Amino acid sequence: MDEPGWPDRCILARPFSGLPRYIVFEARSHPLPSPEATLPHPDLPHARDLVAQAERVVALTGAGISAESGVPTFRDAGGLWRNHRPEELSTIGAFERDPRTVWEWYEWRRGFLATCEPNEGHRALARFFLRRGVDGIVTQNVDGLHTRAAAEEAGDGPPDAAFPIEIHGAIARDRCNDCGLRAEAEPLAAHDDTARGTGTGEAPPGGTLPRCAECGGLRRPDVVLFGEMLDGALLERAQTMAARADLCLVIGTSAVVYPAAGIPLATLHGGGRIIEVNPQATDLTRAAEVALRGAAGEVLPELLA
Ligand code: APR
Repeated sequence: MDEPGWPDRCILARPFSGLPRYIVFEARSHPLPSPEATLPHPDLPHARDLVAQAERVVALTGAGISAESGVPTFRDAGGLWRNHRPEELSTIGAFERDPRTVWEWYEWRRGFLATCEPNEGHRALARFFLRRGVDGIVTQNVDGLHTRAAAEEAGDGPPDAAFPIEIHGAIARDRCNDCGLRAEAEPLAAHDDTARGTGTGEAPPGGTLPRCAECGGLRRPDVVLFGEMLDGALLERAQTMAARADLCLVIGTSAVVYPAAGIPLATLHGGGRIIEVNPQATDLTRAAEVALRGAAGEVLPELLA
């Protein structure tokens, strides 16, 4: 994978004793295989049996579950990291060097996410966990579509069981880069505060960017950037849930970004099984009991009905 400037690769030789909490990816030793979707899914009955028999189920989702909502993935053809340089847009170093560029990138993503809706995959997953009332969804996605699907599918009931653990954060929130205070996102244009400049007539670095109401620090989107630590409590909840699960549904992720990609392995180590839903094979496929090749929006309603 040609992504210069990334942190060192993380090899999960001992997945559960040394999972890194900072976000890294394992460079793949081989290119992504070509699509190999097969319909109808010959393994669907077996997969449905596994779902029916499982007492505890966890789902790990990635960008692929939102693809049918029109949200670009990262590493597929046409994916964000095929056309943009992540080291300039989505690392903590980039934010410290050039916060405006990072802000504009996330502002652009916020803009198109505002036009996207949850799809049948989000909805089927939300209904499934609402029905069960236990266990839940761990997502790498920051797009908020699981949360919206949960709220919409819950009707008058509490949507809690279908609310995801968002281990990479939520793009719809801001967070202070200094004190960590969270705040609702506001449009970049609403923060033209050059008035409190340096007195030299020049804006300070980041001077026109949103500032924390509490400490005056620079705000940033509340997402985990490459090179940053994940929230320890969230990661722990996700890993505990996965370790206790009989079944882990791995949906729409290339499974190359750690520590997220290690979460299904916690289920395996606990004696549980994996069902993968993805049009392509991944490094996790060989660990899966069943790999359903297809789009999440088509497969999940059949699998979880
Ligand atoms: N249904 C299911 N899977 C799909 C679909 C679909 N309709 N379309 C594409 N996919 C699959 C692709 O085959 C691929 O395996 O989704 C996966 C998307 O992989 P990535 O683009 O690498 O996304 P993801 O795994 O979520 O990336 C992890 O990388 O840049 C970071 O922080 C970002 O959370 C992200 C992390």
